[in-house]
Amino acid sequence: MKRMVSGIKPTGGLTLGNYIGAIKNFIDFQDEYELFVFIADLHALTTKQDRLELRKRIKDITALYIACGLDPEKTTIYIQSEIAAHSQLSYLLECHTYMGELNRMTQYKDKTGKNMTESITSSLFTYPVLMAADIILYDADFVPVGDDQKQHVELTRNIAQRFNQRHGDFFIVPEPVIPKQGARIMDLQNPLKKMSKSDDSDKGSILLLDDLNRIRNKIKSSMTDSDSEVRFDQENKPGISNLMTIYSTLASITYKEIQDKYIDKGYGVFKSDLAEIVVDAIRPIQERYNEIVKSKELDDILDAGRDKASKIAYKKIMKANNKLGLGRKR
Ligand code: TYM
Repeated sequence: MKRMVSGIKPTGGLTLGNYIGAIKNFIDFQDEYELFVFIADLHALTTKQDRLELRKRIKDITALYIACGLDPEKTTIYIQSEIAAHSQLSYLLECHTYMGELNRMTQYKDKTGKNMTESITSSLFTYPVLMAADIILYDADFVPVGDDQKQHVELTRNIAQRFNQRHGDFFIVPEPVIPKQGARIMDLQNPLKKMSKSDDSDKGSILLLDDLNRIRNKIKSSMTDSDSEVRFDQENKPGISNLMTIYSTLASITYKEIQDKYIDKGYGVFKSDLAEIVVDAIRPIQERYNEIVKSKELDDILDAGRDKASKIAYKKIMKANNKLGLGRKR
């Protein structure tokens, strides 16, 4: 069975973008692949975090993974920081990564802007190397992610290849798996910007734990262009095209079918229907989340996940140390 690894960073409430671009696909893949899914809490520290808030988010993501349909019998679910080998391997990989490569990462450039200020942490710069470690530590064949993480997986491939060239075949060179549709769900108020996690649940992002009426309102008040034709045209009609993508992925129907269904009906009817489709997808997730978020079951799942993942990770990091001549000969 081929292996897949992916993770989500607990920096805010999970969004519909995280669900459509990542989690929904994990669920589809878990029967076919050996799936490892973690909570990337170390990655959250690249920006300032409140410790209690962070703890809560780690639990929330775990509960949401299960509530969305990840089955702990099939999928190994764990917390990144509970497995020391992630950080250890990250350092070894930093010794095989060039500053120029990290400088080219668009996410880093977007986050720092043009001005390099004192307050930008060096971990924000080296973050993609930790991500590479998360992946190749487990000899993953595939990495299911949304579009914004593609460049990081490509860097991971380069680092793995470089290590293999220098030291002989050691890491599997992983491939990104990007969904054909829904790989970049856009902000509802600014369809030129990616929908992203936020603490204050702003109007452009739908959070999986938002109140259902708030979700309806966010969809109904989303930004669309001034004509009223429901037609997919990413370039000229980015707002409606984004909503059509959400509709299409959640209701499993094509753009053409949506277009035909709403011919002459206008945006109002379309948005009302979409609001119900989104609410119908999220309601059962929230119900299940509420049942399990405080249960002991979550800790049991995380313990089992940590035990399984750490065995694999420990073996690999020991071999990597050995390969590089670190420590004593074993
Ligand atoms: P993160 O936490 O920002 O996002 C988690 C996953 O959700 C996808 N995603 C989206 N997909 C579609 N539309 C959107 N608007 C949207 N926003 C986010 C992301 O592409 C991602 O798949 N660095 C990663 C976490 C990570 C990781 C890893 C992933 C750390 N180590 C190893 C894979 C493998 C991140 O910050 O994702």
